[in-house]
This record gives sequence, C-alpha cells and structure tokens, in this order.
Amino acid sequence: MARTPRAKRDFLKLTDLGREELQGLLGRAAEWKLLGKDGPKPLARQTVGLVFEKASTRTRVSFEVAAAQLGGGSLLLASRDSQLGRGEPIEDTARVLARYLDCLVVRTFGHDRLEAIARWADIPVVNALTDASHPCQLLADLQTVAERFGPDAATRADFPVAWIGDGNNMANSWLEACAVLGFRLTLACPAGYDPDAGLLARCAGRARVVRSPREAVSGALVVNTDVWASMGQEAEQAVRARAFQGFIVDPALMQAADPKAVVLHCLPAHRGEEIAAEVLEGPQSAVFDQAENRLHAQKALLEMLLG
Ligand code: CP
Ligand code: NVA
Repeated sequence: MARTPRAKRDFLKLTDLGREELQGLLGRAAEWKLLGKDGPKPLARQTVGLVFEKASTRTRVSFEVAAAQLGGGSLLLASRDSQLGRGEPIEDTARVLARYLDCLVVRTFGHDRLEAIARWADIPVVNALTDASHPCQLLADLQTVAERFGPDAATRADFPVAWIGDGNNMANSWLEACAVLGFRLTLACPAGYDPDAGLLARCAGRARVVRSPREAVSGALVVNTDVWASMGQEAEQAVRARAFQGFIVDPALMQAADPKAVVLHCLPAHRGEEIAAEVLEGPQSAVFDQAENRLHAQKALLEMLLG
C-alpha cells in the first residue's frame, strides 16, 4: 500500500516563527526549566533521529536528553558511520529515515542540503546548524536574555544587542531574531566578513553593520561573539586570525558596554582569540546558563513540533 504523505512542520530558520509564537516558545522553555525531568511526556513512543555531518557536543547531547526527558527515544546518525558518508543520495536517506523516525534533527554544511532533507522527509526537520544559520542556539540565547532582562526585553526597539566578529551562521540567526522580535542589533565585522545581506535588509533599519567593535558595544546590554573560523573553515584559520585582529571581546571592550551587560558565546570558545578568558569566566558571562538553556528551549521546540 502506498504511503500517504503526512502534514508536518519544520524548524529550519527562526523566521519560521512569528513574534507571538516565538515568545510563547520561550515562555514554555522557562516552564520546562522549572519542570526539569518531572514534566509531561509528549514524545512517548516517538523517536528523534540526529543526522550530524559536523561535530557537536551541546546540540547533540541536549537533543538526546530532551527527547529522553520528554518520554521519547533518540539515535545519532553520524555521516562517517552511515551510508551518507559513502554518498547515498540525500533524497533516499531522508525518505527511508522518515519511515522509521518521528523527527529529524540535522547538522550539515550547505543550507540547501537541510532544505532537501526537509522536502523529502515527511516528518518534522530541525536545523541543528548549517553554514547559514543556527536557530536552535538562538532559542537558548533569547531564553537567557529573557531571564536576565525580562520576557519582553528583546521585543523593545531600544534594547541594544551587539555582535562582535564573524558575520557567520550565528550572526545570521541573530539577524533572524532581530527580524522577528525587533530589538536593536549592531554587528561589528571586519570588511569582507559581513552577515547575509538579505537578512540585514529584512531587519529594515533595526540592524546595522559597523567596522568598530567599540562602536558596536557602546551602551549594549548583550554582547555576543563566536569563533573566527567556523566548522568547515579550518583552512582559513590563519587568514582569519589576521583579519579579526582587534575583534576580541576583552575587559577593555566591555568598558564601553552598559555596566549591566551580559556576554554570550554559543561555545566552543577560543580564549585569547575572540574572547578573553577574564570575560568568559567573569561576572558578566552568561555562557553556561546559555548552554544549559539549549536543553529547556529544545524541549519546548520538540513539544511544539511533535507533542
Ligand atoms: N553551540 C553549539 O551548537 O555547540 P555544539 O557544536 O557543541 O553543538
Ligand atoms: N559558528 C560556529 C558555531 C558552532 C556552534 C560554527 O559553525 O562552527
């Protein structure tokens, strides 16, 4: 008997959510944080597959634990251990996995590969990081901002957020967050390392790119950074290290931010490159709360997609 395609919802980018929906999801993440392991089990009898073509610590572990705490199961399919690593067409893999699993969490290189999986798999597909974006990380980042500054802070047009460094997948997802919620985002990137121009345009005056880290952090309440060379860019490490001189988030730069500012970093971090050890380990750092919130935010996400 032929299979009837199922209706489903994906989470490929933050702009897949409306403002109220995103705020609702973050509110639910806060509830899951309080519920801990004792909450309801909306994933009973469901299995989440993690298709990872890049390395991961936080994303992999937080999704596996989230699925378990929601009463479901999970499994990891690393490309090197599967037929994906030997070139099996993605449309075949996606259709087969959709016959066994209830959700696919995918970390890969090109965003088009994620979109192809979402087209071929008739189960929810979640972006667990591509070269273009990392929306699951933003759920945790925005939850952390809500904890520190109140649930509606990021919806205020005068709420100042700074991004220092590469206009990479994380910078793009901060732009997506800006487009949905409306806070004020200033990104300091060296020339040649700007974020996605289309996303910048979509933020219509609420986000801008500058070349001076000091200008970006001036008065900021949230200061974000990330590695200078992302996964897949290892060969550019030396060139990038030269291009990003002066883009370290260190105590001197933090002097220009609001004294109540928090520092976010999705991790893994390189102390002494994009962030000084004193800042990462200092009182303004929220990075370990931020990392913890991956679990709570993804429980809210899985519940929304599968519950
Ligand atoms: N921040 C983040 O996504 O970490 P991992 O690469 O360890 O999953
Ligand atoms: N920009 C980094 C984020 C890692 C979580 C990368 O893509 O490697």
